[in-house]
Amino acid sequence: MSIITKNLDIAIQILNQNDVVAIPTETVYGLAANAFNEEAVKKIFEIKKRPLFNPLIVHIKSKEYLNQVAQNIPAKAFQLIEAFWPGPLTLILDKQNHIPDTVTANKNTVAVRMPNHPIALALLAKLDFPLAAPSANPFKGISSTNAAHVYAYFKYDLKCILDGGDCEKGLESTIIGFDGEIPILYRHGAVAIEDIEKVIGPLKIITHQENLPAAPGMLLKHYSPKTRLILTKDIITAAAQNAHLKVAVLAFYPKDAKYSSNHHFLTQKDSLEEAASNLYTKLHELDALNLDLIIAEMLPNIGLGKTINDRLTRASAQ
Ligand code: TXA
Ligand code: MG
Repeated sequence: MSIITKNLDIAIQILNQNDVVAIPTETVYGLAANAFNEEAVKKIFEIKKRPLFNPLIVHIKSKEYLNQVAQNIPAKAFQLIEAFWPGPLTLILDKQNHIPDTVTANKNTVAVRMPNHPIALALLAKLDFPLAAPSANPFKGISSTNAAHVYAYFKYDLKCILDGGDCEKGLESTIIGFDGEIPILYRHGAVAIEDIEKVIGPLKIITHQENLPAAPGMLLKHYSPKTRLILTKDIITAAAQNAHLKVAVLAFYPKDAKYSSNHHFLTQKDSLEEAASNLYTKLHELDALNLDLIIAEMLPNIGLGKTINDRLTRASAQ
């Protein structure tokens, strides 16, 4: 059974033995291992039951360390790094040759970010390698935003879960890659695209891509509860139409409306940031209720509302 601890030394010992530790970040928890060690990285794929064609993000301790993992870095990437690192922005860049092929799924590029969580940064500072880490959930499942979520999924598979409390952002990092100097959005995330465009101008947006190994984070079905979920602008009508089922409604915030009994809100006020930070915790809670159906409300399609709608769309995919 995993131990849940704040003790960095325990995690460091396990990581130095090329084994996997769950770590907190400001976005979601990750399943981390030595990114320079093929054997360690393979264990992540086994624990997560992730197909080997789906590459991992490499987490680094400082901006200066980037040269150890990536090369030929475009000017716009440096502008983004200055604006958003440490933070929830992942860049897809040309990889350094010594990055194991398992990390990058045999691609020439590597996904990199410097996380903004005191425990993750303190841990990275004490290691002489970066950490490859996908989100700490089984393939296609709901991501983990606290140590208890990770424990529920992986208590038999992990020796150690580093406890960093609730994740501040609650959504995965935004992923940006480049075609020459043209920036491409691969995944909506915790940095709103409007904020990115303020720094580097318009992004080329790659949307839903079913079964495209080039960008598996964009598989349509993803981030899914076990319970069936539908996404709608009109939760009141959807709740009335499904009144014969065991249903919970997951809405943005309380408005002037007649709500049915099993009603949940992502936030009490009109805040997309707060809704984002609560999304996965709410989905975990509702998924544990053994319902027939979760009816989720579509959020305003601006800022983090785009990311939340993206996740709910994938959660609702058949
Ligand atoms: O916030 C986050 O990004 C979290 C925390 C733990 O850092 N990590 C995370 O990892 O969400 P993961 O593995 O669940 O999602 C990473 C996504 C995957 O969809 C993967 O396909 C994509 O990044 N990816 C990784 N390397 C890539 C590459 N070289 N080219 C294109 N996509 C890549
Ligand atoms: Mg994931």
